[in-house]
Amino acid sequence: MIICRTKQQLRHALREERTKQPSITTGFVPTMGYLHEGHASLIRQSVRDNDITVLSIFVNPLQFGPNEDFDRYPRDEQRDLLLAENNGADIVFMPTVEEMYPIKPLTRLTVDVVTDRLCGASRPGHFDGVGVVVSKLFHLVQPQRAYFGMKDAQQVAVIQRMTDDLDMPVEIVPCPIVREPDGLALSSRNVYLSAEERLQALVLSKALSEAKELGEREGLTVEGLITQLSSMIRKSPLADIDYIELLAYPDLTPLPGEEAVKEVQGTLLLALAVRFGKTRLIDNRILSFVEVESHV
Ligand code: PAJ
Repeated sequence: MIICRTKQQLRHALREERTKQPSITTGFVPTMGYLHEGHASLIRQSVRDNDITVLSIFVNPLQFGPNEDFDRYPRDEQRDLLLAENNGADIVFMPTVEEMYPIKPLTRLTVDVVTDRLCGASRPGHFDGVGVVVSKLFHLVQPQRAYFGMKDAQQVAVIQRMTDDLDMPVEIVPCPIVREPDGLALSSRNVYLSAEERLQALVLSKALSEAKELGEREGLTVEGLITQLSSMIRKSPLADIDYIELLAYPDLTPLPGEEAVKEVQGTLLLALAVRFGKTRLIDNRILSFVEVESHV
């Protein structure tokens, strides 16, 4: 496994591989490190699909708000490198902030509409920062495929739209959410949770897995479903709800609150963000009640 800390080293390593074998395909897994089994599943998928896999580890200051956890975001370089190697990554790119942004970027990258709600609304500027760093990384790595977890379903929608709008020659591959055996979605931020917060956080995956059955109930409206899920989550005294929303996916447009859930057509995203103490957790589930009719 080759470790590159500068853009020049990365370009050089890629050029070597591509000169040796001009037809190789490159898979790319962008991360912020403190890797876990969720990240590992993306690396393994890329290794299965491509000749070489590039992993990036970079805590991107541009996507953190002024009162967010950039300074205390967990880091463990040695453990990350071990996990990368054990899962088959060929090249790891781990630049410093100065290497990535030698001058403060003045270029903004805003994807409208799909960022209007969910984390786009509660973390202003977050997805602009994601857009800039992912575009830079795509230009540096020039992958044929890039792997993103559905844990961040809105991020997948934003990146997909960005690559479509800008004709970036990369296929976005969404990958399933990896969970602990008890249901908690894996996240680098789970280490912040106290034992009690960790226990209470289980309510998130429980609420999401009950949603399908609730939604099937006669007459339950979109608004009614959100109310039921909110009260289920509020029963955990440490839970402080940021949002719970049911939206059309991947457009991320709202549904009429008075519509019966089981009559809503197409693919839906039920997404939530909830604070436990200082830690903000997100989780989601894709649901569908009525498939859109095909006219073929
Ligand atoms: P990070 O939070 O490190 O996540 C890197 C990738 O791992 C993302 O695509 C995320 O969705 C995926 N991931 C995280 N937890 C997962 C889980 N439990 N199951 C499956 N996949 C999971 O997302 C980012 O970093 C950044 O915004 C980034 C895209 C790297 C840009 O800075």
